[in-house]
Amino acid sequence: ATDLKGRHFLKELDFTAEEFRSLVTLAAELKAAKRLGTEQQRLRGRNIVLIFEKASTRTRCAFEVAAADQGARTMCLDPAGSQMGRKESTKDTARVLGRMFDAIEYRGSAQSAVEELAEHAGVPVYNGLTDTWHPTQMLADVLTMTEHSDKPLERISYAYLGDARYNMGNSYLVTGALLGMDVRIVAPRELWPSPEVTARAHELAEASGARLLITEKVDEGVAGADFVATDVWVSMGEPAEVWDERIKLLAPYAVTSDVLAATGNPGVRFLHCLPAFHDLGTEVGREIHQRHGLTALEVSDEVFESEASLVFEEAENRMHTIKAVLVATLGDQP
Ligand code: CP
Ligand code: NVA
Repeated sequence: ATDLKGRHFLKELDFTAEEFRSLVTLAAELKAAKRLGTEQQRLRGRNIVLIFEKASTRTRCAFEVAAADQGARTMCLDPAGSQMGRKESTKDTARVLGRMFDAIEYRGSAQSAVEELAEHAGVPVYNGLTDTWHPTQMLADVLTMTEHSDKPLERISYAYLGDARYNMGNSYLVTGALLGMDVRIVAPRELWPSPEVTARAHELAEASGARLLITEKVDEGVAGADFVATDVWVSMGEPAEVWDERIKLLAPYAVTSDVLAATGNPGVRFLHCLPAFHDLGTEVGREIHQRHGLTALEVSDEVFESEASLVFEEAENRMHTIKAVLVATLGDQP
C-alpha cells in the first residue's frame, strides 16, 4: 500500500498519481465507515494546529470534524492574536509549533510561507489554500467526480470556467494532468494559468496520458464534458478595484443552463468549491447588485440549485478527504 506517513500536503505536484489516488480511495473508505458507524480512531492523542490567515468555513470545519472523529485535538491559532508574521518569522514559528503539535495546517496568501513552515516544522504541514494552490479541495473534487461517474478516472472530463490564473484554476489544471484526466480550462487569455504552471501540467500529461485544452472558447471547452466547474471571480485577498474589470472579462464564462446544454451531455454535473455568488443572499452579492445590476456572477442561481449541482456533496467531501490526509500522514496502522 502507498505509505504517506510523515508527508506534507503542500501541492498536487509533490505527489504521484498513485499517491493522490490512494488518498481519494482512503477518503471513500473513511466516508463509508463513518456512515456505517464502524470508523476506527487512528489519531488518538495527536494535536493539530490550524492557522487561517484568510477566512474559511469548509476547510476549517473539515479539519476540526475530521480530527475529532479520529480522536485528535485541534487548536485554531488566530494569526492576528499570535506573534506569527509580525514579531516572529515563519521559520521560528514553524520550529515552535513543531515542538508542540503533531501537524500544522496553514491557509494564507504565499505558497512560499506554507513551504517554509514545512521546511522547518519537523512535522507534517498541510496547505489549506494559498493564492497558488488549493490541493485539499482537489481531493474533494476528485472524490465527488468518482462518486458521480461510472467511468474510470482517466476517462472523466471536466471543464473549469472562470479565473484560471489563481488557486482553483492552477489546481484543476495540474490535478487532472497528474491523474490522466480530460481537462479543459476555459477562460479569457488574460486569466490563463501562468506559462510555468502550464508547462508543468503538460509534462505531467505526457506521463499520464491526460488530455489538456486551454481555450477562450466556451463551446469548444465544454463540449462533451462530464463536469463543469467554476469559482468566484475575485478571490480572497484581491483588491476590490479588480471587480469591474473581472466582471467584464468573465461575463461570457458564467455557468448558466446554456453552458450546461452546450456540453451536449444531459448527465453533466456542476461543481463549485464554494462560497459562490449566485443570489442576493450575501453582503458582497448585494454590493455587486447595486453597482452592476447583476444577481449572480460565476453561476446562475438556476444551475446552482439544479439537479445537476453537486456543490454540497463536494463540500461534505472536504471533510472525508481532509480526514484521509490526516490519517495517511499521521495515523496509527489499522
Ligand atoms: N472551498 C473552501 O475552501 O471553502 P472555505 O473557504 O469555506 O474553507
Ligand atoms: N479562489 C477562491 C477559492 C475559495 C475557496 C479564493 O481564493 O478566495
